[in-house]
Amino acid sequence: MPQVIAVTSEKGGVGKSTLSVHLTGAFQERGLSAVLVDEDGRVGSAVRWARRGPGLPFPVLEPEDVKPKKLREADVVIIDTEGRPKRKELRLLGERADLILVPSGVSMLELEATAELMNFFHEDPQTRRRTRVVVNRVPPIGKAGEAAREDLRESGVTVCNTLVRSYAAYVRAAELGVLCRDVPTRDQGAERAAQAWADIVTLSRELL
Ligand SMILES: Nc1ncnc2c1ncn2[C@@H]1O[C@H](COP(=O)(O)OP(=O)(O)OP(=O)(O)O)[C@@H](O)[C@H]1O
Ligand SMILES: [Mg+2]
Repeated sequence: MPQVIAVTSEKGGVGKSTLSVHLTGAFQERGLSAVLVDEDGRVGSAVRWARRGPGLPFPVLEPEDVKPKKLREADVVIIDTEGRPKRKELRLLGERADLILVPSGVSMLELEATAELMNFFHEDPQTRRRTRVVVNRVPPIGKAGEAAREDLRESGVTVCNTLVRSYAAYVRAAELGVLCRDVPTRDQGAERAAQAWADIVTLSRELL
């Protein structure tokens, strides 16, 4: 059976789709059979990302295209969810996923929203053990990422060691429908693409 990683958040726009697409790419690059399931049909979704470019190096499926038998053959399944899911959906996610990954920005409001969601997940001890925050869109200069990570840890939240830094390469990758690793080097947005990709690979190793 595959490891199922669900990416969700209390707030919208925290980087769920960006992380889901890139993490799936990192698992695939490491030789794992990785599948991305897009449970969000809107504009910023992974399915549309895949259609915008030459195609991503792994399957991106909509829920209605999921064939359970095929999915069982994968090593890892990443589920990208829509922003602001209902409590009931979150409970279901807790049952379906081996790991719930919650991206959070470093601002006070984002940290508050993350803490609120984590309080909900912590109500159930089983789900609690499966839930981890990843600090995302960390300013590459300064210590805001480290500070956010420590704040969350002090409040009892499990937080990934890897800080995913903020780079334009992610935005450009979404526009081109590729992974930041594959943004052409001459492209203006390609600056620091290698660092961006390195963060993702490091995170993927921490998860699986
Ligand atoms: N590490 C990062 N560095 C720079 N920009 C980022 C990073 N992660 C995400 N972004 C940008 O932030 C915006 C929101 O990201 P994304 O669409 O992945 O969020 P989301 O949580 O999936 O949003 P929604 O809740 O609408 O589904 C996008 O423009 C994306 O390119
Ligand atoms: Mg999204």
